[in-house]
Amino acid sequence: KSTYRITLLPGDGIGPEISAATVRALEAAGSKFDIAFDISEGLIGGAAIDATGSPWPDETLESCRGADSILLAAIGGPKWDANPRELRPESGLLAMRRDLGLFANLRPAKAVPQLLDASSLKREVIEGVDLMVVRELTGDVYFGEPKGTRREEGTTVAFNNMIYSEPEIERIARVAFDVARQRGKKVCSIDKANVLDVSQLWRDVVTRVRDDEATDIELSHMYVDNAAMQLVRWPKQFDTIVCGNLFGDILSDEASMLVGSLGMLPSASLGDPANPGVFEPIHGSAPDIAGQDIANPLAMILSAAMMCRYDLKHPALADALEAAVEKVLDSGLRTKDIIDPDDPDFSLVGCDEMGRAVAGAL
Ligand code: NAD
Ligand code: IPM
Ligand code: MN
Repeated sequence: KSTYRITLLPGDGIGPEISAATVRALEAAGSKFDIAFDISEGLIGGAAIDATGSPWPDETLESCRGADSILLAAIGGPKWDANPRELRPESGLLAMRRDLGLFANLRPAKAVPQLLDASSLKREVIEGVDLMVVRELTGDVYFGEPKGTRREEGTTVAFNNMIYSEPEIERIARVAFDVARQRGKKVCSIDKANVLDVSQLWRDVVTRVRDDEATDIELSHMYVDNAAMQLVRWPKQFDTIVCGNLFGDILSDEASMLVGSLGMLPSASLGDPANPGVFEPIHGSAPDIAGQDIANPLAMILSAAMMCRYDLKHPALADALEAAVEKVLDSGLRTKDIIDPDDPDFSLVGCDEMGRAVAGAL
């Protein structure tokens, strides 16, 4: 193919800023390979609420369904936090994942040699870290029914349901074993089986899938509280991590500090291979720095690289984008979040300039 149809969802907060930088880098990469991107912008989140009254308008879903792939920046912000649940930006993001069947979220965390001193963690702890969090994305307490708030005996109670079915666990376990097969062949499944029935089922099903279909993979299990500690104590023990939606959300933000900044971690959300995936940074809309041109666009640019690899099946394009990011980091350019205060040689740049530099390196 020489033209790819991309639906771009800039969303809220820093979303439009990092989207502009990413499109610049992606188009520069494309032109190296005579590839054009036909990009249509769609509304999601707060921006969609303001324009249409819905955080996930039908026409955005239609645009996504017709695309080769989908690039998303981030949604959310204080402006919409008091809205009823169904009119919050986050509900749009969850509806997107559900409607597109994106049950597998791959969140790689690989230490970047140039940023070892930008992390708050010690160099020897993070040097050489290369792990992948495989997060289940369309189940768990995020989607479980019943849920809600009710009055009971003169007070208010609120409840959500942490629930997984066997087929949901089986399919994410298979993804994790397939991912591990391309990496270190080691999967650590993370749960809370010492307390939660849903986690006991999780552990039993993951073990069975491994014994039936993936005997070449070494499987271990860990409780989530210990895993949170082990991730900062000695992260190099991990290769592929598989976990439910909520634990994966939390542990992947924690894992970003192994790389130096939340602004560095990309992700791929995948489901049926016949449908487009969604590629987005793991971070949010960062309302605290929105509109200031200081956000780090690299997580989204690296998400675009994952899109080229997983959806567009163009590994050379992905490699080119990743190499350009490396080259820019080698040259000393840093957004505010990845500065090493003791390094005299860095140059502080904004979001726009970082995007231009990556495009220039292509
Ligand atoms: P956040 O990820 O937006 O920000 C957390 C911290 O990291 C902030 O200090 C922020 O400035 C910083 N940060 C994040 N991305 C950065 C980047 N690219 N460059 C530099 N610094 C960056 O999380 P939050 O503050 O807890 O949430 C803000 C909003 O984002 C909320 O509405 C939340 O629901 C939403 N959110 C959306 C997504 C998504 O769209 N996938 C993910 C997480 C949070
Ligand atoms: C993420 C976000 C979302 C999640 C929120 C905004 C619904 O934190 O993509 O990691 O919890 O999945
Ligand atoms: Mn999150």
